Amino acid sequence: MSKVILVAATSIDNKITCGSNGDSFSWTSPEDQKYFTQLIKDSDLVIMGRKTYQINSSKMDLTRGPLRLVLTKNPKKYSHLNIPGHLEFTSLTPPEISSKYFSKYNQILILGGSQIYSLFLKDNLIDEIYLTIEPVIFGNGKNLLNRLKIDQSFRLVDFKQLNRHGTLLLKYQVIQKNSL
Ligand SMILES: NC(=O)c1ccc[n+]([C@@H]2O[C@H](COP(=O)([O-])OP(=O)(O)OC[C@H]3O[C@@H](n4cnc5c(N)ncnc54)[C@H](OP(=O)(O)O)[C@@H]3O)[C@@H](O)[C@H]2O)c1
Repeated sequence: MSKVILVAATSIDNKITCGSNGDSFSWTSPEDQKYFTQLIKDSDLVIMGRKTYQINSSKMDLTRGPLRLVLTKNPKKYSHLNIPGHLEFTSLTPPEISSKYFSKYNQILILGGSQIYSLFLKDNLIDEIYLTIEPVIFGNGKNLLNRLKIDQSFRLVDFKQLNRHGTLLLKYQVIQKNSL
């Protein structure tokens, strides 16, 4: 049975980017980066938006590991980058992605950014949230979610302090899926 996990790292003030700097590895802790790298290795399907892909593509080993599915409204523009089994670009909607892919994979990560997190939450497709909160405040930057109206409840099932600075890893499970 597949499990769909939204994975994000935020500042205390709920930002997933530090201002206009989209490189999360510039502010997340080494402990979070280690956990995140292992999580990717342990997953079968990783879904992200085109912007997240473009900012992070140089860090991805696309010769092995999970299938990376990149959402774009213009998949043809990126089709030359397709690597069968490792990298695909798609304009399918989250429900269409769920029908086509989810039953074939065990652990599925929704990697962001804000637009993609919001789309999958809005369509009630998230089972768990793994949220790292780094002890930093940015003021400016992208919020975890954009302004779609979403109403869902989760319960905390695990938490861990990853280092002495107080980086927290929180794990939540969905308890009801009432998207408005
Ligand atoms: N801290 C963290 O945990 C974390 C995690 C992930 C990302 N980030 C950061 O967040 C930033 C990106 O977030 P973002 O919200 O701006 O962008 P994003 O969600 O990564 O990607 C947005 C793109 O996804 C495509 N898209 C959106 N809705 C779609 C739909 N309904 N159908 C098909 N394609 C669709 C569009 O691509 P096209 O324009 O090509 O059509 C859109 O421009 C980056 O800086 C990234 O590094 C941080």
